Amino acid sequence: MSRISKGRRTDGFALIKSLKLPVPLCLLLQRMSQFWYSDETAARLAEEVVREAGEGGRIACVSAPSVYQKLKQGVVGGSDRVSAVVLEYDRRFAAYGEDFVYYDYNQPLSLPAVVAPRSFDVVLADPPYLSEECLSKVAETIKYLSKGKVLLCTGAIMEKLAGELLGVTMCSFLPKHNRNLSNEFRCFVNYPSRLS
Ligand SMILES: C[S@@+](CC[C@H](N)C(=O)[O-])C[C@H]1O[C@@H](n2cnc3c(N)ncnc32)[C@H](O)[C@@H]1O
Repeated sequence: MSRISKGRRTDGFALIKSLKLPVPLCLLLQRMSQFWYSDETAARLAEEVVREAGEGGRIACVSAPSVYQKLKQGVVGGSDRVSAVVLEYDRRFAAYGEDFVYYDYNQPLSLPAVVAPRSFDVVLADPPYLSEECLSKVAETIKYLSKGKVLLCTGAIMEKLAGELLGVTMCSFLPKHNRNLSNEFRCFVNYPSRLS
């Protein structure tokens, strides 16, 4: 399964809307580019951000709800000594209460006061689309939120742009999803990491 481009998505949805047919759930999930990490990958990323945030650290999970969820499951050592928020477009994650921050990458700096500038020790982000426009806007959000450490998860094809925008380099760790993606997917960091 590949991440669909925004253009194809819009065309497909225009067609479905014109037919006035009910939209199947699987298409709704594709529309929001929802590809979830495997349990092992979510746990590994959660361990990484806890270690890097340090005692009392703050973590922002940007469009990466499964890492936030893993932090809250109490299965990652030290997760009770950090705090985390999840910035998400899908309002179903508002079930996480005050840790949920509505986020649309199209308005990268339209954020509430609870997520103040440079207030997060680690910002982990998984932009929904493999496009220059999307990564550039998400990078604006990351830079706004970050005190320094950035963990970006995206397609390997975004390596050059990610380096230019955020100073990140590719890790050797290979993240896995619960469905196969046709695009090679990688993690990128701007600090010495155990994922490297
Ligand atoms: C490729 S998924 C990343 C999820 C991650 N792999 C995980 O398991 O948590 C992209 C995420 O971006 C969110 N998203 C979709 N449209 C968005 C938008 N316009 N702005 C911000 N996030 C969006 C989706 O809801 C989804 O959580």
